[in-house]
Amino acid sequence: MSPSVPRLRLDGERTAIRPLVHRDVDELAALVVANRPHTEPWDPVRGDVYYSRAGQAEMLRRDVEAWDLGTGFAFAVLDRTGRDRMIGRVALGNVVFGAWRNATLGYWTAADVGGRGHATEAVLLACAFAFDHAGLHRVQPAIIPRNVRSIRVAEKAGFRREGRALRYLNIAGRWEDHDIFALTLEDWQARDL
Ligand SMILES: CC(C)(COP(=O)(O)OP(=O)(O)OC[C@H]1O[C@@H](n2cnc3c(N)ncnc32)[C@H](O)[C@@H]1OP(=O)(O)O)[C@@H](O)C(=O)NCCC(=O)NCCS
Repeated sequence: MSPSVPRLRLDGERTAIRPLVHRDVDELAALVVANRPHTEPWDPVRGDVYYSRAGQAEMLRRDVEAWDLGTGFAFAVLDRTGRDRMIGRVALGNVVFGAWRNATLGYWTAADVGGRGHATEAVLLACAFAFDHAGLHRVQPAIIPRNVRSIRVAEKAGFRREGRALRYLNIAGRWEDHDIFALTLEDWQARDL
């Protein structure tokens, strides 16, 4: 049995995260469509339906269901400096409790707010959620080595690079090697704040 995990908003300095809900569909779909060229090279092949209101409604249905099941915790990333405009998504996925208490971590932020630290802050807030509220012990992003911006986000957030997994995920139609990064609860608690 997975524990019941609270639906919480967490605020950082310039960025906040809050659980995605069904009524986000219009704002999220507009953002996903506008950012297709920015995110598509780093995503699995999705098909055109994904980049539509109907596709995002289905994704939100799955996100809400996963939260209820304790298998995933998906958040909207909000720009606190811009009236809480939605600017991306960060999600703890593939959550397993028991002896592992591990989650993968995925994220993207909109092209027009890049380089302002939003992704890094959203990732840190997702880690705070994982360790302080969801009872997880390990958070693990996997990043294609040439995705230098994302590698930088993981480094800035304090993740440890554990090694390279060969042909790990099918991204944009190719089996891509990924660098595995991780933080455990012990790392999180030992951070210099
Ligand atoms: C990767 C991504 C999440 C970064 O978002 P962001 O909001 O720009 O991230 P941040 O501002 O927190 O940090 C970005 C860092 O990358 C650096 N950076 C930006 N462009 C870069 C480039 N071309 N080469 C090297 N570093 C770069 C920035 O300078 C910054 O580092 P710094 O603070 O040391 O200067 C965003 O670009 C994105 O969504 N990309 C598409 C989807 C994706 O790749 N998701 C991750 C999959 S693992």
